[in-house]
Order: sequence, then C-alpha cells, then structure tokens
Amino acid sequence: MTTQFIGKENFTIHTQTVSESCPSNIALIKYWGKYDNQIPANPSVSYTLNHCKTNTSMEFLANEPFSVQTFLAGNEEVKFAEKIEKYFRNIEPYLPWILKGKYIIRTENTFPHSSGIASSASGFGAIAKCLMALDEEFSGKTSEEESLKKASFLARLGSGSACRSLYNGLIVWGETEEVEGSSDLFAVQYPDAEIHEIFKNFNDWVLLIHEGQKSVSSTVGHGLMNTNPYAERRFQEARENFVPMKEILKKGDMESFIKLVEHEALTLHAMMMMSDPAFILMKTGTLEVINKIWDFRRETGLPLFFTLDAGANVHLLFPSNGSEEKIKTFIERELLQHTQKNGVVKDVMRF
Ligand code: PMV
Repeated sequence: MTTQFIGKENFTIHTQTVSESCPSNIALIKYWGKYDNQIPANPSVSYTLNHCKTNTSMEFLANEPFSVQTFLAGNEEVKFAEKIEKYFRNIEPYLPWILKGKYIIRTENTFPHSSGIASSASGFGAIAKCLMALDEEFSGKTSEEESLKKASFLARLGSGSACRSLYNGLIVWGETEEVEGSSDLFAVQYPDAEIHEIFKNFNDWVLLIHEGQKSVSSTVGHGLMNTNPYAERRFQEARENFVPMKEILKKGDMESFIKLVEHEALTLHAMMMMSDPAFILMKTGTLEVINKIWDFRRETGLPLFFTLDAGANVHLLFPSNGSEEKIKTFIERELLQHTQKNGVVKDVMRF
C-alpha cells in the first residue's frame, strides 16, 4: 500500500452528485507491460487530446448499502459496474468513506462508442476526478495540486494510462531520471519550458480503421509481456528513448521525433506479435495507411506521421503550420478510404 495517499479518517458523508470531464491521451513512448499494483515496467510519455473526452456524473447516496450502477450513453452496463465495484473496494485505504453508500454513475464519451478509441483512460480519469470532488465534500479541501496528483494516482489504479489524462500537454508516467519528479505512482507534466513551440500545436486525426471490440484486451496484452522473451529489452529501450526524446523536444527536431514516435508504435505491435500466444491488432487498412504515409513523406517531405494504440486505428499526427492544408487534403483523398465508414475523429493536442 502507498502511504502517501492514505485517506483521512475524519469525514462526514452526505448524499451528493458531482460531474467531471476528462480527455483521452495518446502515448508517444508506450507503456506496455506492468508489475503488481499497476506499476509500469517502463516510463511513458503522452499527449493529452482535446475533443475526445468522457463526461461523467456520479450520484452518491449516503448510508445505503454499497453498490454501483453504471450507465453508458443512457444504457445500463452491468459488466462495467462490476469492474467499478471491484475498483472501489481496492482503493478504500485512500478514500475511507468510499464503501459507505450507493453510486449511480452516468458516463458519455464525446467520441463514437465502439470506435476503438480507448475510453478507459478518459473514463477512469473522469471517475477519479469525481471521487476527488466527493472527497473534498466529505474530508475537507486540499490544494488543487494535491487533489490532481491524488486523482492521477487513483486513475492509475483503474487503468494505467488513465493517470496521464489528468493533465494537459505532454505527460510523463513512470520514474525516469530524465524527468524531474516523475513517478511510477502518478503522472507529471513534462516541463513546458523544455518543449519547442513546434510540438505545442499538433493535430491528431484518428482514422477509425476497425470499429468494435478488440480481439485481445490490453489487460491480457500487458500480461503476455510477463512471458515475452523480448520484454526486458523492450523496457530498457523505452527507458533509453527518453534521452533522445528530451533533446528532440527541446530542439524542435521534427525528423527525429517522427522516427522515434513511429518506432515506438511499431515496437508495441511487434511485442504483440512476439507474445505467446501471438496476436495482431493491426488490420489490412492499418498497413495500407502506414505505407501511404511513408510514400507521402518520401514524395513531399511533409511532416505527416502516425502512432498506434492497442488497436487497428491509426493516429495521424501533424503539426499545425504552413503544410497543414496539403496534409489534410491528402488524408481526405487517400487515407479515408481505408476506414470502415469514412470514420475519422479530428482532434488536437490540449496544451
Ligand atoms: O492503460 P491500459 O492498461 O489500457 O494500457 C494502455 C497501453 C497503450 O495504450 C497501448 C500504451 C499507452 O502508453 O497508452
């Protein structure tokens, strides 16, 4: 147990509804593989998105027997409620009042359901923020900084990458000597002064290559890293990648940024292929899009590149500068055809 975040024993509960919103995030250096209690096997860094969000309202009915009811876009989700119940039991040391009532949780994503965009990051981020809002009501106020840090800590215990969604900008989770104050327990903001302007105004257009359930969940995927013979090398590489990443971010070295980010995405999927049993989450469309991006870059030299999360969708990354319109035209003309229903979510990074 982490003593730093143990909850106050003095609290007064009452029936209360709180509402919070939390964005999703996309990793540039990936987290894939973990130890007990959601401790990451390597540090990761992500961009927080702007439009892809989860809005959650949490009704707490004081002194009713502990139970959780959840609704996703108005539809009751029993499986999700079971997951949240387990999560709440797990985090009781940090919020000692948490099992003393009934919860009705209503949640909605601003991005299409079943789009394959990870909703667990924004979802657990929003739940952790709601819990901290209730904690403030019941146990008294803490500083905003402390409250966010604890929300990030709690979100991590729900879904690892969720801890990075609590902050805007470039966010680091996992201890690395390259980033001061970084921790395995919660996420921190990458220092703004160390980021070149070119990386602060970025687009992320998510091509919805394959909508629907993934064949292998990320929980199972993380677990398969335990027996993957390449895992240790991969964890080491991710740690090492923070060294060039720091330089790149400072100098505004777009070419090296592109190379590193694409390498990270492909390594994530290579790890899946090297697992036992092996699995592949990319689809034909994913590969077609990647090849077209490489051809486009070779022909035009324009900074369009990709990253992937644990799924088939392609995150198209490009800076907002002079070349933006040409890139957008290329995406509409050449890449949209590889999506299932012309599906694209046009987002930007939130700084
Ligand atoms: O937070 P989880 O357990 O859903 O894992 C997310 C893993 C990746 O999205 C593939 C990488 C990352 O760092 O977000």
